[in-house]
Amino acid sequence: MSTRRRRQPFTRLYLGKPWCEAIELDSGRRLIARPMRSSDGPTLRRSFAKLTAEEIRMRFMHPIKELTPDYADKLARIDPDREFALVLVENLPPEKALIGAVARAAIEKNTRRAEFAIIVGSEIAGFGLGRYLLSRVIEWARKKRLEELYGRVLNNNHPMLGLAQRLGFKRRLSAEEDEVVEVFMPFNRRTESAPVPPE
Ligand SMILES: CC(C)(COP(=O)(O)OP(=O)(O)OC[C@H]1O[C@@H](n2cnc3c(N)ncnc32)[C@H](O)[C@@H]1OP(=O)(O)O)[C@@H](O)C(=O)NCCC(=O)NCCS
Repeated sequence: MSTRRRRQPFTRLYLGKPWCEAIELDSGRRLIARPMRSSDGPTLRRSFAKLTAEEIRMRFMHPIKELTPDYADKLARIDPDREFALVLVENLPPEKALIGAVARAAIEKNTRRAEFAIIVGSEIAGFGLGRYLLSRVIEWARKKRLEELYGRVLNNNHPMLGLAQRLGFKRRLSAEEDEVVEVFMPFNRRTESAPVPPE
C-alpha cells in the first residue's frame, strides 16, 4: 500500500494583502503566511531556539548556536527592491508567536539572479508547506523578471533536493564548495509562460 502523503493537506485563505494567507493544517493548526516584518527580529530569535542542530546546519550550512539580536534584525530587514521573505507565523500576539517557517530570496548585486533559502521547522514539516513557500518564492522571482532562482543545498539534504526536484529545479555542482549542490530554475520566455507546478 502506498504511504504517499496527500498533495494539499492544508487549506489557504487569502487575507486581502499581498502574500498574506491564513493556513489551516489537517491537524487543525492555524498559521498566517505573510511577508517578514522589520519588527520580527525578536520573534526570529525565539523561534530559532526551537530548531535542531541538524535543521540549522542544513539551512545555514554551518553550525550556529543562537541568532544574535543584530543578526536576527538583519534577517528581518528586507529591502523590497531586491529581497523577499515570507514567514509562517502563529496567529498570536507578537511577543508570544513563533515563526515556524521562513523562505527568502535575495537578488545578487548587478545581476538578474537571486539565491533562495528556506526552513520549515520539524513541528510543521511534511505538510506541504515547504512546497507552498518555495512556490511563492518562484512566483516572486517571476514577477521580478529574474533570469534565475537558485539555492545552495548540502548534497546529503534529501528532503530539500526532493522538494527542489518536485518544483522543477535543475541541479549543478557548486564551483566553490565540495559538499554543495546548486539547485536552479532558469526563467526564459518558455518557462515564464509556464504555470508554477501545483502545490
Ligand atoms: C527541506 C524542507 C524545507 C522541506 O519542507 P517540508 O515542508 O517538510 O516539505 P513538503 O512537505 O512541502 O514536501 C515537499 C517535497 O519535498 C520532498 N521531501 C520533503 N520531505 C522529505 C523527506 N523527508 N525525504 C525526501 N523528500 C522529502 C518531497 O519531494 C516532497 O514532495 P511530495 O510530498 O510530493 O513527495 C524542510 O525539511 C527543512 O526546512 N529542512 C531544514 C532546512 C533546509 O534543509 N533548508 C534547505 C536549505 S536551502
